[in-house]
Amino acid sequence: MGIHFQNVSFTHAKRSPVRQTAISRFSLEVPDGQIVAVMGPSGSGKSTLGQLAGGLLVPDGGTVWVDGVDTKKRGNRRILLQKIGYVAQFPEHQLFEATVVRDIGFGLRGLRMTEREVADRVKRAMESVGLPYERYRDRSPFRLSGGEKRRVAIAGALVRDPGIVILDEPTVGLDPVVRIQLLDLLKRIQAANRITVLCITHDLQGALEFADRLVFLDNGELAADVMISEMTPACEIASSLPPTPLIRLLKELEAVFPGQIPAGLVREQALLDFMAERLLHTKGRGGV
Ligand SMILES: Nc1ncnc2c1ncn2[C@@H]1O[C@H](COP(=O)(O)OP(=O)(O)OP(=O)(O)O)[C@@H](O)[C@H]1O
Ligand SMILES: [Mg+2]
Repeated sequence: MGIHFQNVSFTHAKRSPVRQTAISRFSLEVPDGQIVAVMGPSGSGKSTLGQLAGGLLVPDGGTVWVDGVDTKKRGNRRILLQKIGYVAQFPEHQLFEATVVRDIGFGLRGLRMTEREVADRVKRAMESVGLPYERYRDRSPFRLSGGEKRRVAIAGALVRDPGIVILDEPTVGLDPVVRIQLLDLLKRIQAANRITVLCITHDLQGALEFADRLVFLDNGELAADVMISEMTPACEIASSLPPTPLIRLLKELEAVFPGQIPAGLVREQALLDFMAERLLHTKGRGGV
């Protein structure tokens, strides 16, 4: 399923003195199955764009089509709910049910499913985000770690099997290892189900590793649109630049583990895995 923004504008608090135009003349075509990272300074309109893509806000000008469905038409609300999984900024604040299973299953209410079907769907969503069903089903969502809560919220967005998932800063506030685990997980879910992902983030490193495309917003306008695979290979420009902190870290690790660093260990995730295994002894600590 794709998302198509055509000349979209949106102003918050339209009839008040604090009216604020958040999105202006924004056009973008996101094809089926693409992972798009949306970046830009604070206040540039990223969350507003995510809400427009999710049908939670409707544009004042222009049109947003989600899988060909115009989000502005009221009658389309139900259809959009089925197509889109939306995870808000700090989604853990929206957990409210007494158990993990009930929280994730909330998204299936009103779908005329048997209890058994609901349980199966919830179980599948939980396993896909790495929360073993039996271990977590009756836990209170409020007594989970930050990373676990984030997973519950993502499972809640996946439980309807949406074709599009919109995530507003899914990794913010998580420790680096958990952050990479979560990105890896999202990538695997996306690959397995070929869903389209719009991921709002301030994490350039994560975006470069996991997205297909980077979209930069500036003051509500599209400032840049970059396909990651078409970027100039880093090695062509790196020789003339001072080493990045990541490369310096790699050199430090080479000094500690001479001859043991695999060639091509330049991705942050691979480096973190290596450090987790050799230095932190946390490998396999699945309990994010
Ligand atoms: N409910 C609201 N009422 C009035 N103005 C708003 C409202 N929500 C957002 N805005 C304004 O719209 C603009 C875009 O906000 P938005 O939340 O989309 O930015 P953002 O890029 O997600 O920022 P951040 O990185 O801080 O999350 C900002 O100037 C913000 O102050
Ligand atoms: Mg935001």
